Amino acid sequence: MKYALITGANSGLAHPVIASIKDDYFLILTDVSEALNGAYTDIPNKLVIVGDLTKKETLSRLFDQIKNITKKLDLIIHFAGILEIGPLMEVPLEAFEKLMRINFFAIYTVNQKFFPFLKKAKGRIIHLSSEYGALLALPFHSFYTISKRSVEVYNDSLRRELKSWGIKVIKVRPGAFKTAMQANVTKKFDKILAATKDFQSPLTKMQQMMLAELKRAKDPRKIVKTFRKAIYKKRPRTTYNVGQSFKMKLLNILPEKIQDYLLGLFFS
Ligand SMILES: NC(=O)c1ccc[n+]([C@@H]2O[C@H](COP(=O)([O-])OP(=O)(O)OC[C@H]3O[C@@H](n4cnc5c(N)ncnc54)[C@H](OP(=O)(O)O)[C@@H]3O)[C@@H](O)[C@H]2O)c1
Repeated sequence: MKYALITGANSGLAHPVIASIKDDYFLILTDVSEALNGAYTDIPNKLVIVGDLTKKETLSRLFDQIKNITKKLDLIIHFAGILEIGPLMEVPLEAFEKLMRINFFAIYTVNQKFFPFLKKAKGRIIHLSSEYGALLALPFHSFYTISKRSVEVYNDSLRRELKSWGIKVIKVRPGAFKTAMQANVTKKFDKILAATKDFQSPLTKMQQMMLAELKRAKDPRKIVKTFRKAIYKKRPRTTYNVGQSFKMKLLNILPEKIQDYLLGLFFS
């Protein structure tokens, strides 16, 4: 029996991936959302643990419950994550810290805690980066971008550190997919536009840009093929890009001065 731990198991991207691997793994599913209890009713081989992964209590409970059923983990996928947007000069430090706790430090802690389990199985770890983890830094989108860039650096160092243990460490960089995270962008913009003192005009333009991007967001089921490669391939790539924005990729290859000029035109 193979064992997989999936964080953020109730996320929009996790659902189709879990459905696609459910017959090959005993699934340990965790999420802060209580809705996880009512999800995946068609999967008999599972353990469901609801809790906030940034809390020590959840991590201890996760560890205790997992060690009662297995001493090895063949796969960990880190879907849990949140989005924060807004001006660097206005968003309170607490909001940035909260984002880093789940988008970055929870990954760090979970991987450390389950390293003995991964060693036993010569398992694999899949991290969710984003197109923002690799492409240029957009204004008002820095908190999430910083967290995903951190995941990228962490992923690459860890991959090299764990190679001799036979543990594969892979990052997936999705573009925009239609999930709750994307749907929340509208609410988030309403909040930051109501709160801003100095950035009303550029934030309104950013809101238009992100809402247009949202319309182009893809069906989460389209991510499954990429995940199956990362999960099942004997020799997976180090990085998988999927569904990224052509405009962002184009802007990314330009010199920084030109990027600044074009972004300046857009936001002025
Ligand atoms: N959708 C995209 O376009 C996209 C693009 C690039 C990368 N990604 C990445 O892919 C991953 C999944 O994204 P998604 O769009 O599927 O997001 P989503 O539907 O919003 O799901 C994120 C999940 O993480 C859970 N979560 C949040 N804080 C948590 C905590 N402290 N402890 C445990 N679980 C927590 C959420 O629970 P609640 O709902 O209760 O908060 C939610 O179930 C994220 O890491 C995201 O950054 C997504």
